[in-house]
Amino acid sequence: MEEQKAAVRLTELKEQIAYHDKRYYVLDAPEISDYQYDQLMRELLEIEAQYPQLLTADSPSQRVGGAPLKEFASYTHRNSLLSLMNAYGTDDLREFHQRVCNDLGKDEIEYVVEYKIDGLSIALYYENGVLQTGATRGDGVTGENVTANVRTIKNIPLRLQKALPVLEARGEVYLPRASFERLNQQREEAGEALFANCRNAAAGSIRQLDPKIAAQRDLRAFIYTMLYVEGAEPQSHTQCIELLKEAGFTTMEPLVSSDIEEICAYCEYWGEHRHDLPFDIDGMVVKINSLADQQVLGNRAKNPRWAIAYKFPPEQGVTQVEDIVVQVGRTGAVTPVANLTPLFLAGSTISRATLHNEDFIREKDIRIGDYVVIQKAGEVIPEVVSVVTERRNGGEQEFQFPKVCPACGAPLIRLEDEAAYHCSDPMTCPAQVREGIIHFASRDAMNIEGLGPAVINQLLQAGLIANAADLYYLQKEQLVQLERMGDKSAENLLNSLENSKRRTLAQIIFALGIRLVGQNVAKVLARQFHSLEALQQASYDELVVIDEVGPKIAESITDYFQKDRHAAFLQKLAEAGVQLNGEPAEQKQEKAAFAGKTFVLTGTLPTLDRREASAMIEQAGGKTSGSVSKKTDYVLAGESAGSKLTKAQELGISIIDEETFLQMLEN
Ligand code: IVH
Repeated sequence: MEEQKAAVRLTELKEQIAYHDKRYYVLDAPEISDYQYDQLMRELLEIEAQYPQLLTADSPSQRVGGAPLKEFASYTHRNSLLSLMNAYGTDDLREFHQRVCNDLGKDEIEYVVEYKIDGLSIALYYENGVLQTGATRGDGVTGENVTANVRTIKNIPLRLQKALPVLEARGEVYLPRASFERLNQQREEAGEALFANCRNAAAGSIRQLDPKIAAQRDLRAFIYTMLYVEGAEPQSHTQCIELLKEAGFTTMEPLVSSDIEEICAYCEYWGEHRHDLPFDIDGMVVKINSLADQQVLGNRAKNPRWAIAYKFPPEQGVTQVEDIVVQVGRTGAVTPVANLTPLFLAGSTISRATLHNEDFIREKDIRIGDYVVIQKAGEVIPEVVSVVTERRNGGEQEFQFPKVCPACGAPLIRLEDEAAYHCSDPMTCPAQVREGIIHFASRDAMNIEGLGPAVINQLLQAGLIANAADLYYLQKEQLVQLERMGDKSAENLLNSLENSKRRTLAQIIFALGIRLVGQNVAKVLARQFHSLEALQQASYDELVVIDEVGPKIAESITDYFQKDRHAAFLQKLAEAGVQLNGEPAEQKQEKAAFAGKTFVLTGTLPTLDRREASAMIEQAGGKTSGSVSKKTDYVLAGESAGSKLTKAQELGISIIDEETFLQMLEN
């Protein structure tokens, strides 16, 4: 393509991708499939690779994150970013309203009330519609220039969809709770330190010097105010929100009300229902709607007089550590847990809190008998925030991390770079065997209904099973001998075992419980290898190059498949009829057309370009290679194909043209 044409096409692609980003990330209503989206992106990347001079700051290619930075440059805000004064109850809100009425000399004021997002404050600066800078708040005057990371946030437009010559917007970057939990799960599997809550995770991600990491974190932003705008004259906060929405931002829908009692009730309502939202909020923000009134009231040094934050009461409480025990997980990781005097907090009773690892206990100096501050981190896992040292009486005991596995007595080992101790005998350790079977049977793995921890315990104790493969050899007569297992439940269990023989490949890989292979990695592996056999044969080098599979995971996978006992386990499953290569339906779909086939492309095809053709081959399970050999299955040849074509003819390899290729795909 010549440059001029490329430039035109690039503009089209940028617009289309921005449109589909908005459909997906802002409106939650995608119009095209991921595959179609990837095609647009691929084409754009190809043009930019060919004509680097056409690459611009608003290109969606910038969202994947560029080169890592050494440090963030500091950034002086054009308009300083104020913070809010706090209200700690509805009385403070009423008082605020009184003051506003007095100062403005009015008895009716229209307010807007919106969520106070528990994330990280951000300022965005656009010139001629293009995002120039994204900066953290810092001290309000100077922040950090985190533009490279801000560009990776998919619901922040790189180019505005409304003509505004200059816009400075402000909002909050956050991590949805589900993404936070997924992130922590991945980190736990990888033996990395966990983030305490969504806010820390969002702040940690936006302050990553490597934007590629930020790009993987599913950060989002709510934009809630305009600090400065040219090209529009909004009169109220609600009009600002309208404009921001039209420009392509994700905004919040505020309550608009002049009734302070309604506002108080609304704030209290969300205090009680905050957990129903998919993101964390730590309060509500009440603002005067009229920008003219805002101006009349003006600002104090650090906060405006026209707004106030209603802070929810903290979800922390104090209780006593009665004991510290250690638990052995399915991968042999040994986790210390605090048994607490039960405490009612944020809707539930807490009697245990994870202490993560030995370092965590040492850093916080948590002792048995200590009074500790407990918090619902990320509103899910209760966590010890700190020790109330003033309440110590000298009788507290330091916790000694055991040297041997509490379940089997094998020595504990601590791998380099890892915070956790592991039991050194995964083969016979009863805790690991038990946890492994619980994991195998769990819903996201083999989904064996009716096989919970209690039944698994019974089966193990009765000596009916030693590992998960034994489950498939259980007889009804054996099951009915178990306590509380009637005829009907035994039949149900056998039925669900039968049903579990057909799971997707990703579910099977996940079920094996390979260390560091969580659901996410299992999916990636299934997509890449299409069968368990292929995964078993994969070398370290083949694994380590896959996105999301680093050296540690690659090593863990090859280790797993090298072990004789795992080979025996898999064989036993296969002999019982478990379809280890995934559901036939899934295979058919995944195997569609080109599974396991190697293609070589040569010459110019009539309509497809090389990248498109390769993408289609990969999507249908095939591979492309640069040179023709005996291993090549097809040569896809176009006009003026050269030596590759001759070589294919010599080797007797099937040569196909684009039309045949497309037909094969269709079939
Ligand atoms: S208004 C001058 N609205 O809460 C107006 N702030 O101290 C300043 N925040 O760090 C902020 N949600 O980043 C406003 N809906 C919202 C907000 C919000 C979260 C943060 C803000 C700031 C802190 C207030």
